[in-house]
Amino acid sequence: MRPLFTLTAIALIAAGPLLAEPAPTPAAAAAPNAEQAKALIQQFAGTLKGELETAMKAGGPTSAIAVCNARAPAIAAELSAKSGWKVARVSLKPRNAKTGQPDAWEQQVLTRFEERKAAGEAVDTLAFGAVVEGDGSKQFRFMKAIPTGEVCLACHGSAISHEVAATLDRAYPGDRARGYAVGDIRGAFSLAKPID
Ligand code: HEC
Repeated sequence: MRPLFTLTAIALIAAGPLLAEPAPTPAAAAAPNAEQAKALIQQFAGTLKGELETAMKAGGPTSAIAVCNARAPAIAAELSAKSGWKVARVSLKPRNAKTGQPDAWEQQVLTRFEERKAAGEAVDTLAFGAVVEGDGSKQFRFMKAIPTGEVCLACHGSAISHEVAATLDRAYPGDRARGYAVGDIRGAFSLAKPID
């Protein structure tokens, strides 16, 4: 019994806290990929947050919308090109219907994040990674929840100014990303990388 117990313990440590769910992934293979994904997310989030805050200070939310609109996809594309990962942001209530719409797997993970939050997990620790097979290809996919903060409310909250709302209406006719409160899950970073 002893050696068996030790093996299980090692597998659990290798999986780390991020793979708290039973994933169809050998823990040892998933761990380095999850670390890479987390590092990319940190870069993406950091760059975006910096540019958003600068734009908000310089011209307020109405002019910062243009920054989100142009810079968010550009930063995602830059990171994708240099890393070989597909880098995106998705949401159950997307603003950008083209880039923010989750596929079936992402939808499942986002729904699971809502359940885990309801069960008491902290939003800023919600993450999930797994090897996903389909269409003859195999990918490592990783998602990390994005919490709604105070600074987000000017454009995603329930008391958006008329000026901001009008600008959003023009740029995103089907916008669903309003009515959020601090602490809600705004969406998630979603990364994918082909593996052998
Ligand atoms: C100045 C207005 C503004 C602020 C402030 C803002 N956003 Fe957004 N957000 C946008 C716009 C515009 C888009 C659509 C960007 C695009 O077209 O890719 C967006 C898109 C997103 C998306 C991508 C998914 C989707 O709905 O299309 C996420 C996730 C997101 N925002 C999270 C946040 C978070 C978290 C904060 C606070 C830290 C925040 N936003 C603050 C305007 C804003």
